Amino acid sequence: MIKTDLTHSKIAGEDFNALYTRIDEIHKVIHTDDGVTENKWVELPATIPNDEIAKIKSLAAKIRSSYDVLVVVGVGGSYIGSYAGIKMLGSDFPVEFLGLSFDPVPVLKFLEKYKGKRIAANVISKSGTTMEITAVFNILQPVVDYLVITTDARKGNMREYADKHNIDSLIVPDRVGGRYSALSAVGLLPLAVAGIDIVKVLDGAQRAYKDTLDGQSYAPKYAAARYLIHTKQKKDVEILATFNEGLSALGDWWQRLFGESECKHGKGLFVYSMVFSRDLHSMGQYIQQGRQLLFETIINETNPSVNLEFKPNNEKALGVPAKTMNELNKACFDGTVKAHSQADVPIVILHLDRMDESAFGYMTYFFQISCVYSAYLLGVNPYGQPGVESYKTHMKEFLG
Ligand code: PA5
Repeated sequence: MIKTDLTHSKIAGEDFNALYTRIDEIHKVIHTDDGVTENKWVELPATIPNDEIAKIKSLAAKIRSSYDVLVVVGVGGSYIGSYAGIKMLGSDFPVEFLGLSFDPVPVLKFLEKYKGKRIAANVISKSGTTMEITAVFNILQPVVDYLVITTDARKGNMREYADKHNIDSLIVPDRVGGRYSALSAVGLLPLAVAGIDIVKVLDGAQRAYKDTLDGQSYAPKYAAARYLIHTKQKKDVEILATFNEGLSALGDWWQRLFGESECKHGKGLFVYSMVFSRDLHSMGQYIQQGRQLLFETIINETNPSVNLEFKPNNEKALGVPAKTMNELNKACFDGTVKAHSQADVPIVILHLDRMDESAFGYMTYFFQISCVYSAYLLGVNPYGQPGVESYKTHMKEFLG
């Protein structure tokens, strides 16, 4: 469960009711299947078929028992969801990610590291035309011992290739865009190979889904708050900050989700994620004393499950009080909220009760629906990414 706390948001006297009425309308629209819009992700946690889950688990078991590594080849929404989950929850099996750019170095390093090893690959591309992915796939092909392709059910060159060569494949569901696909086979196979319980991930997502249906979700409050801070307090930049290093990749995922969904027609917020206290030692200077462009959304883990005690003795204490690491982290959180509030930075706090598989599923769904509410509040279609296509077109011109 995530709770949105606006105590430090500097939102005062705003009429949330009008915004909640609009969000209710948006909610109805995205739950109505018009047969065209890419809203299918909304029902995904509740509609993923049991035989699909069984297939994902069986492919994962095969990879874990017969191969030394899984390399995920994907970019954007094709890889970032599972990458975020693995960085948050850990992995007991080597999972590597390639295809994130045209830089040859990571590919060369991968080939060197896994020389002579049994390599399984999961190539993920909905369109099948993304050149970062197809280039790396071509290079890896001679050394890949087992391949699973995740792509569209019917169309595209990846689908054709998989069908023609009888390659094991999984499906990016119809009308689910890349950045909304973490809770489909796209995200679930790499998570399962990493040893993460995907049923618990889906349970968390289902809770988030039910909370939105039952009016229990805090996503409307988050979407309304960021809209008000943006439009009334004129803040164009949102920083998502976390005090957990394990959530750093989730911050990357969040950044891609909101950036690609919301920023169109000269609208949208510039979004950027940070890990505190690491980034307090650098960008904290900007937040505290730079231009007043931004607000912060801070994820606060309320009941950390791991801790580390610090037992100072006279010689080694070096000025640190006799506190646990979590007590130091909590004091850092409180101190940061106080300092940034005094610098007039609006702060939205998202209280997260735990950091497990179910919380990952819950957060994924929570941010996806918040993002869609936010985009529609701004009058922007969250789906599609026409701006992203531009570099691809020009790149092709330069390739001749
Ligand atoms: O959200 C999106 O649609 C993008 O980030 C895509 O996931 C990314 O561009 C990769 O596209 P594809 O899966 O078609 O190769």
